[in-house]
Amino acid sequence: MVRIVLVRGDITAEAVDAVVNAANSSLLGGGGVDGAIHRKGGPEILAACRELRRSHYGKGLRTGQAVATTAGRLPARHVIHTVGPVWSAEEDRSALLASCYRESLRVADEEGDRTVAFPAVSTGVYGWPIDDGARIAVETVRAVAAAGTGVEEVRFVLFDATAYAAFEAAVAAGG
Ligand code: AR6
Repeated sequence: MVRIVLVRGDITAEAVDAVVNAANSSLLGGGGVDGAIHRKGGPEILAACRELRRSHYGKGLRTGQAVATTAGRLPARHVIHTVGPVWSAEEDRSALLASCYRESLRVADEEGDRTVAFPAVSTGVYGWPIDDGARIAVETVRAVAAAGTGVEEVRFVLFDATAYAAFEAAVAAGG
């Protein structure tokens, strides 16, 4: 059983085991959630990301993949960085967005994390429509839960009322 909890607010304040970052493949920071996490978490996170680039991801982290680092000064234990797909009207990239949630939960499970906070990956700078992004997020977490995971609670931390409403609808749709 994985409990799904919806929270309205800033993900950097979440006292969970792992906070998921909507990163880009460089892992070296950006705007949105990524900017907030690096700003509040401090330079330790960036140092860990640079080391990961050097040791494992010379060409960057691929879209749909996930990797864990320290959370620096954040209340969380880990940051799990994932790279969402940029929205495209021509090409269906839903499988890549689902992969972000699945891979992040796989890494969280591997790290022994029990509580994980997600932002609405790809729905900001990357332009994914929020209703569809919410549906994919909730469906994927439910599929991972059904398959079995050590993660006990997933919190979707939504920045604004529209995103919160979209996730409420997605949760209700699945019964
Ligand atoms: N807490 C929770 N949600 C937030 C926060 C926050 N502190 N800040 C923004 N959001 P985005 P993406 C919401 O743009 O679309 C970066 O430059 C926001 O309203 O952070 O995956 C990266 O480096 C939106 O609903 O991520 C990449 O280059 C959601 O979080 C690129 O943006 C995701 O918005 C990734 O774009």
